Amino acid sequence: MRIVLVGPPGAGKGTQAHVLAKTLSIPHISTGDLFRANISQGTPLGVEAKSYMDQGLLVPDEVTIGMAKDRLQQPDTAAGFLLDGFPRNLEQAKALDAFLADQEIALDGVLDLEVPEDEVVKRIAGRRLCRNNGAHVFHVIYNPPKTEGVCDECGGELYQRSDDTEESVRVRLEEYHSKTEPIIGYYREQQLVTTISALGKVEEVTQRAVDALKAGK
Ligand code: AP5
Ligand code: ZN
Repeated sequence: MRIVLVGPPGAGKGTQAHVLAKTLSIPHISTGDLFRANISQGTPLGVEAKSYMDQGLLVPDEVTIGMAKDRLQQPDTAAGFLLDGFPRNLEQAKALDAFLADQEIALDGVLDLEVPEDEVVKRIAGRRLCRNNGAHVFHVIYNPPKTEGVCDECGGELYQRSDDTEESVRVRLEEYHSKTEPIIGYYREQQLVTTISALGKVEEVTQRAVDALKAGK
């Protein structure tokens, strides 16, 4: 299956993508995680991306689209993929469509996670990520690790993202409304979108997502 996950910052895209990708045996591709990996390795791409990310702004398309296409051409995507955080504006959505059309493949669905803004702020404020793997996501209250500061899945050190500040979250929400939400309309025209509530326990949201993907088949 080829799926795109959309939703505001802190909706739980990374959390759900990690579980869904395992369940569906497809790779979880997060442009945010790819940027963070580049930042921690100190690559030129990482240096460029960091200045935008820390402000909560989208990284320019020239950088982002190339990076996403490179990742989509890896052999593990033959059976499909779950895209988390890409595309994030109409230009990226059109570039993805053109890339898929070139390969004579298409998306199977777009899952839209809906969550109120006050919940987003609470989720982001308590988020902790694993240094070894950005898909290992915790929350100090909602999903605490068994040992404080240590990843349950791999023993890695947990840290708080440098863009999880109040100011950056406000900008990320503005970027989401002005640039990312329009792609939902674009995909609705292609009858690909299912909107689900991202409120409730992680497992409840996963069940809704699985049901929505089955129904969309
Ligand atoms: P990115 O890393 O994609 O961040 P984001 O979209 O802002 O989304 P988040 O990672 O903040 O949230 P999430 O929805 O994954 O939530 P999570 O599962 O962690 O992008 C970061 C930056 O990179 C962007 O600002 C931009 O600069 C750049 N970038 C990335 N892609 C780009 C692109 N395509 N184009 C241009 N620039 C790009 O969950 C949040 C918290 O809530 C966690 O603590 C979790 O434990 C908790 N939680 C999850 N589910 C639940 C639940 N059901 N109940 C209670 N708590 C929950
Ligand atoms: Zn980990």
